[in-house]
Amino acid sequence: MDTNGNGRLYNIAVIGATGAVGKVFLDIIEKRPFPLKSLKLLASARSAGSRIRVRGDDLTVEETTPQAIRGADFVFISATDEISQEYAPIAAREGAVAIDDSGVWRMDPDVPLIVPEVNAADLDAGRRIVAIPNCSTTPLVMALAALHPVSPVRRVVVSTYQSVSGTGAAAMRELTDQSRQALDGATNIPGEVYPHQIAFNLLPHIGSFKEEGYTSEEWKMVRETRKIMHLPDLQMAATTVRVPVYVSHSESVNVVLAEPVAPEQARALLAAFPGMAVIDDPAVAGYPHPVQTAGADPVYAGRIRRDLSHPNGLAMWLVSDNLRKGAALNAIQIAEAMIERKQV
Ligand code: A2P
Repeated sequence: MDTNGNGRLYNIAVIGATGAVGKVFLDIIEKRPFPLKSLKLLASARSAGSRIRVRGDDLTVEETTPQAIRGADFVFISATDEISQEYAPIAAREGAVAIDDSGVWRMDPDVPLIVPEVNAADLDAGRRIVAIPNCSTTPLVMALAALHPVSPVRRVVVSTYQSVSGTGAAAMRELTDQSRQALDGATNIPGEVYPHQIAFNLLPHIGSFKEEGYTSEEWKMVRETRKIMHLPDLQMAATTVRVPVYVSHSESVNVVLAEPVAPEQARALLAAFPGMAVIDDPAVAGYPHPVQTAGADPVYAGRIRRDLSHPNGLAMWLVSDNLRKGAALNAIQIAEAMIERKQV
């Protein structure tokens, strides 16, 4: 057991403990000095009774029920939208803080949407449901927040290259199965998770198609960025693409600032921003890439250069582990920030 500055220890319930994000959550909690009193692992009835070893204890996975989260200080939810919709208010009513990974609560004006390095102050509203952003929004807002105090962000164009783990464990299995079949010569392999073959392919389609021809994932990036940055009128457009990568999302970002910022200065600002790291040495093929960043905590920036299409423009490349900073790590950091701010 660990103690923290308050000397208090906290009861945690994890809904979705058997999922792609849940597993990473448990891996992080095992290694981080989180002031943990007890850990309850919850999933669907399918997983009830299975055992997972965490911090030296064999814990039994239980079915998610209102009784199962009673007594928790924090309830982390990364399961389905329906479960988030149902259980975040139950957790809040029971006196816990629900930290939710779904898209259900993010745009609710009464729910803070938090990346602690960017907008931890939004936690001070004292809400009991807190949302974490979409895994492609988090790296972007961190890079923007690094530049914004020096030269305000005016316009953002982003294209993403998102890994299949963002969809969940079933999508990771689909990529493996299809890759084997494709290497054996199969083509046009039908999928169950994605509408087309994902192995050796890429799909400019994440979520569902919405207004103006943009997908729900693209709208999430735009709306969540505006909310987190407190820039409701930010000009922004996104194209989100699923790629046959297991873990880590990458993003090509073009940003227009109020005043020009030289690439060297941008590099220094990004490197100094908490939770970010810069790998930018083209002479030795130095740039972040998904294989390298999977399993690492920081948001990495590289390929930082002038955007030649605009005098105040910068272009850059971001890569970050979508299961860690994009989900589980950010959720744990929110709990830590709330403890530090004495809100729990
Ligand atoms: P289970 O493993 O029992 O299906 P992923 O994003 O990797 O697909 O993981 C989804 C997570 O959400 C899993 O832990 C899954 O549990 C959990 N889950 C899915 N449906 C429910 C449900 N109805 N109640 C509780 N947890 C659920």
